[in-house]
Amino acid sequence: MTKLQQKKPKISMKQIEKIITEYQGKKWALIPLVQKIQEQAGYIPPETIPIIARHLGLFPAQVQGVVTFYAQLYTTPRGNNVVRVCRGTACHVRGGKSILKLVKQHLGIDEGETTEDMEYTLETVACIGVCALAPNLMINKETHGNMNPKKVARLFGKSEKE
Ligand code: FES
Repeated sequence: MTKLQQKKPKISMKQIEKIITEYQGKKWALIPLVQKIQEQAGYIPPETIPIIARHLGLFPAQVQGVVTFYAQLYTTPRGNNVVRVCRGTACHVRGGKSILKLVKQHLGIDEGETTEDMEYTLETVACIGVCALAPNLMINKETHGNMNPKKVARLFGKSEKE
């Protein structure tokens, strides 16, 4: 699999603009608006930023600032599954770094990237709160503890090569 960050939103620009016009002049509604766009389009296409600004009566830089500030808002398409490998101390000392390396190899992508088939986006997190099971990773909302090469291979559907 190779990386690809070029994919169209799940709904058309026309539909996105329709959502934006519902918020006409409502500066206070910037966050709910961008959340709604992300929910329906899969992400916030960067070309929508000046349109949002114009309709809400804000500067594009203000909209951009909010979208970049919140880690939960994305301006690039995300995979159907988000994999988060823990890079916290407990996981690190128990081999988290090797787990991350293996996941990267299996998916053929680096941190912050999405597979070409849009199946997986790979991220790292500081700690997912289950240090006793280190090393850990999450796939969407599900935590997978005591990770090892075999488990990584099983999760990502490929046979382990030693
Ligand atoms: S350090 Fe990984 S879960 Fe806490």
